[in-house]
Amino acid sequence: MAKILIAYFSMTGQTWAGGDIVDLEKGFTNIAAEYIQQAVGGDLFHIEQVRQYAKDHFAMIDEAKKELQENARPALKKFCDDLDDYDTVFLGYPNWWGSLPMPVLTFVEHYDWTGKRIIPFVTSGGSGFGRSLQVLEKSAKGADIDKSGLAVLGVQVEKNKAEIQRWAKEKI
Ligand SMILES: Cc1cc2nc3c(=O)[nH]c(=O)nc-3n(C[C@H](O)[C@H](O)[C@H](O)COP(=O)(O)O)c2cc1C
Repeated sequence: MAKILIAYFSMTGQTWAGGDIVDLEKGFTNIAAEYIQQAVGGDLFHIEQVRQYAKDHFAMIDEAKKELQENARPALKKFCDDLDDYDTVFLGYPNWWGSLPMPVLTFVEHYDWTGKRIIPFVTSGGSGFGRSLQVLEKSAKGADIDKSGLAVLGVQVEKNKAEIQRWAKEKI
């Protein structure tokens, strides 16, 4: 039986949700990660950067853009110490500026992925994975990356619970 980790990056607080700014207690990708865990078991790991992004949504998206342009690797609060124990890693993140949040790269580049499967899932405002899978391929050294990952609209994540769980079960 594969030992499963569900590692995800997700924001709380202000977000753009289909025309309005709403305040989320739990981010869309976080919700999807929990659905996956309910479906296939495994452990959750929250990828969190040390420096908090601005609370204001528009200031925050500018900060994220700057990190992308600078190819930054923001420091993380912690790493998953026992990654060696897992052979299958669902990796979830939001689409940011057509790619992925830079803290996800800090996480990915920390490990040697040889012998491990990464199964990506993304939530977005409509652009799905964007170019993030190509970025992941370069960054996750040695990983077997599943290219048929799951893309869900952030605002529709709850509506898609059954679909997310069906997809996750198929992967195991
Ligand atoms: C900094 C930033 C950049 C974003 N860029 C895109 C984008 O390029 N394309 C897109 O479809 N959605 C984009 N979004 C929307 C998010 O992908 C979407 O709201 C996602 O579901 C948020 O996930 P979370 O609640 O788990 O953080 C962006 C959101 C943020 C905060």
